[in-house]
Amino acid sequence: MCGIVGYIGEKQVYPFLIKGLKRLEYRGYDSAGVALLNGDIKLYKCKGKVADLEKITKDQDTKGSIGIGHTRWATHGLPNDVNAHPHFSDSKSIVMIHNGIIENYTALRKTLESRGYTFRSETDSEVLLNLIEDVQKKEKLPLNEAVRIALSEVVGAYAIVLFSKENPDQLIAAKKGSPLVIGISKDEYFLASDATPIVEYTREVVYLEDLEIATISRKEGLKIVTIKNQEITPYIHALELQIEALEKGGYEHFMLKEIYEQPRSIKDSMRGRISEDGSRVALGGIKDYEDKILAARRIIIIACGTSWHAGLVAEYLFEDFARIPVEVEYASEFRYRNPVIYEDDVIIAISQSGETADTLAAIELAKSQGATVIGVCNVVGSSIARATHAGSYTHAGPEIGVASTKAFTAQVTVLTLMALSLGRKKGTLPDQRFNRLVDDLKKIPSKIEKVLKQNDKIERLSKLFFDATNFLYLGRGYSFPVALEGALKLKEISYIHAEGYPAAEMKHGPIALIDEQMPVVVIAPRATHYEKVVSNIQEIKARKGVVISIVTQGDKVVSEIADHCIEVPDTDEALMPLISSVPLQLLSYHIALLRECNVDQPRNLAKSVTVE
Ligand code: AGP
Repeated sequence: MCGIVGYIGEKQVYPFLIKGLKRLEYRGYDSAGVALLNGDIKLYKCKGKVADLEKITKDQDTKGSIGIGHTRWATHGLPNDVNAHPHFSDSKSIVMIHNGIIENYTALRKTLESRGYTFRSETDSEVLLNLIEDVQKKEKLPLNEAVRIALSEVVGAYAIVLFSKENPDQLIAAKKGSPLVIGISKDEYFLASDATPIVEYTREVVYLEDLEIATISRKEGLKIVTIKNQEITPYIHALELQIEALEKGGYEHFMLKEIYEQPRSIKDSMRGRISEDGSRVALGGIKDYEDKILAARRIIIIACGTSWHAGLVAEYLFEDFARIPVEVEYASEFRYRNPVIYEDDVIIAISQSGETADTLAAIELAKSQGATVIGVCNVVGSSIARATHAGSYTHAGPEIGVASTKAFTAQVTVLTLMALSLGRKKGTLPDQRFNRLVDDLKKIPSKIEKVLKQNDKIERLSKLFFDATNFLYLGRGYSFPVALEGALKLKEISYIHAEGYPAAEMKHGPIALIDEQMPVVVIAPRATHYEKVVSNIQEIKARKGVVISIVTQGDKVVSEIADHCIEVPDTDEALMPLISSVPLQLLSYHIALLRECNVDQPRNLAKSVTVE
């Protein structure tokens, strides 16, 4: 939820900190700060974005070759200068940044106050820092030892980086539940919440694991111990991330770039997984688990937000192609409702970031009950990817825009491939239908190219509706999850209230909302329930509702009754979510721009929800 960076080496640290924080701003952007050491600790922080931080440091002394930086998504305490990170300890001899939530911070704060500690902020992070200082003073310990002992008293999630002016040659980091990556280069080390700030400096990284503490010094390099003080040999991964994937590439926003990347990202998510002749589909990451999935009592899909919508599409796919019972659960509900989980259940956890706290916790719950967990993630080496028994990466490339677009279609592509492979293996998907689906799937990227060519038309359409206060999105069958996803896209970047519904549900209540002020987006492609969706559109028109419809190219019926139609190329209805979601992404994007919203960093949101 927050972005953290750190550096120790020979170079001036400030440029890395600022550039790194800008790369991580998608994780949180309500306040930012840096702390550097050059004889004394210099700390600069403020409410606002990293650009605001640059303004206040412009004429300041920012020299130093060890430092930390933080861009925040507030969990405890308002977004303001005081609650911004880094924080000083009570004695001002230690500084720290933190991403996560310390759940027992209130009790810890009371204990520390009884020992004479005072607090400048309302944050849980400052409490953790003073706990560390208290342990260090009481036990007369080196800082890294004090960190290890203090963390044993902590309940919650953290990724922390800290240093003290007493030991200018040492950065200390620790992690539990929030991500932390350590980049290794000659005589210098880079730390960050993910690899994006690091990749331009080194491709050698270590992913700190939960309950590990890293001590990094110029003289002795990187040392890692567990919270129980067992020494760990770091495993060095080679990063595959391409730096240009982190730039906007000429687009005005990351979101627009990522919408336009979908033909390529869908190709990448299929690459190497469909045989040349189209007769076989194979996902290497789960090949050893396919029999277990086929023998599963049921598949339980756990995810959040857009990934949950991809899970709903997967429910239709797996039951349709492989006849395996599927349940789709919000991870945040699943983890706490004391669910029944059998050893022969197979869990599929879907996550773009691979760091969503609720999804991670739901995975741990399922594993504790003996279930098998398969991951579908976009970030290689992410916490969820490493927590599952097996999985498949979506290979969509870094998704920087907070509103998920290419990750959604890449998730649906991978889940479609899984369902095709399982259905084929189980014999519930006839060869003829399998071959036609594979053939259609391979054509999806070019069909999305055609949809993208309607961007101008969709932009014009957005001008008619950007001042609406409510929207309804309707779909049936495979288009129902698309309706939910379209509504989420609109509300999260334009702040217009939008609801998605199964089209047939209209008569059970929502139709009372219909009047000439209510734009209704109806996803009505050629599909099994087409005629029924046409009836739903007629019901809306009879009540003066305004209908924007996504239809199959050449549609002659809906185009006669809807107010506006966006035509998309035809494909098998099971694959239509990959196509029909794209015009809804563009519609939301243009409406949000007209409302002067920040489409890449919408208010109150963050790209990766690493706290619950
Ligand atoms: C989608 O546009 C949102 N940014 C949000 O709902 C997101 O899908 C959700 O937080 C889950 O994130 P994940 O896929 O990284 O787990």
